[in-house]
Amino acid sequence: MKSQQQAFKSTVLNPAGIGLTDNHLLPFVYLMNGFFNFRRYDMSIHLNKVSKTYHLKGRTVEALKETSLDIEDGEIFGLIGYSGAGKSTLLRLINLLEEPSTGTVMVNGENLTQLSKNELRVKRQKIGMIFQQFNLIESKTVYDNIEFVLKASKYDKKQVPKRIKELLDLVGLSDKSEILASNLSGGQKQRVGIARALANDPDVLLCDEATSALDPDTTKSILKLLNNINKTLGITIVIITHEMEVIKEIADRVGVMSAGEIIEIGPTYDVFSHPKKEITKDFVQEIYNFEIPKQIEENKENQVITIQFLSENAEENYLNKLYREFNLNISILNGRIEYIKDQPLGFLMFQVSGENSEIERLKNHIDQSNGIERVAYIG
Ligand SMILES: Nc1ncnc2c1ncn2[C@@H]1O[C@H](COP(=O)(O)OP(=O)(O)OP(=O)(O)O)[C@@H](O)[C@H]1O
Ligand SMILES: [Mg+2]
Repeated sequence: MKSQQQAFKSTVLNPAGIGLTDNHLLPFVYLMNGFFNFRRYDMSIHLNKVSKTYHLKGRTVEALKETSLDIEDGEIFGLIGYSGAGKSTLLRLINLLEEPSTGTVMVNGENLTQLSKNELRVKRQKIGMIFQQFNLIESKTVYDNIEFVLKASKYDKKQVPKRIKELLDLVGLSDKSEILASNLSGGQKQRVGIARALANDPDVLLCDEATSALDPDTTKSILKLLNNINKTLGITIVIITHEMEVIKEIADRVGVMSAGEIIEIGPTYDVFSHPKKEITKDFVQEIYNFEIPKQIEENKENQVITIQFLSENAEENYLNKLYREFNLNISILNGRIEYIKDQPLGFLMFQVSGENSEIERLKNHIDQSNGIERVAYIG
């Protein structure tokens, strides 16, 4: 969903965008595009065959194998993977904190790999970044921490106090301006981190394990803030994490990384409901936490079945139907509905016993029901 701000961006800058079907606007748009050197305004981040190899004492580490990736303007893109998968490497290639060994990096239509050091420094102001350890100057006040970033970017001095106030309002810290950073809670520190990252009105916000040092409630509140920032300011967000919980809350699309590669990628709901790779299945299992209890024995007359309910079917009482229509003993072992970026996905694990033919009829019934599927890998 495009925010008003994005709609504005695409109206003015994107010939294929909303509101541009009026023919009389087209010459103006083409003129603007010419003026902006035919930038690709639909794609915020475009990695073309990038890779990163580190050379350490005669040893080489292929931190990122050749990867191409497009992230759309206004999208929240999540990257998940275990430690050492190459997530931070990929993220740091987007603002060229790491120089790629091969390939090109484009952000908002500009090829970063071709910029001079000075041009890159200016461009980086439009790519905010937040970190797990917040990276604040602990001995300085909240105000000073934000002022530091504005000074570094030569922000109009007269406007600085007003800008800091705006940023503090945005992150919900209006009353903390004069507090020392060292006296803030983890969640408040990350809010200052976000204010700093947004100081120069970036197009892109990169988040490296931004909630990993926070408790679950604080994590939720920071993710909510990031979601709001994405919606109201239209900023593209790339968030890397090892927690599926974070992906589930915030990401429109997710990539799963392993050993320097994106091994699976898709809309978050699709990846949760139909994970393909073993690692992805492990991450989904982490959320649903289903295992067949040890004391349950499976045999032909006694089977454990796990089903998933997609979207609107997640809230329907399917089980009642099964009790009514089948001559079987059905006992529930586990069940759960999770909301994947606000879209429900339900799982139900139950044990059935009875005639084999009746169990087969039940399985067929499940397989033919819309939006309800048997899940082989859980349990
Ligand atoms: N500067 C460096 N020099 C040498 N090797 C590096 C460097 N930075 C990263 N690596 C290696 O590259 C691989 C990927 O590291 P990276 O930090 O991208 O992983 P990650 O997925 O972010 O892991 P984590 O979840 O632990 O942060 C690892 O094997 C790591 O040791
Ligand atoms: Mg990392």
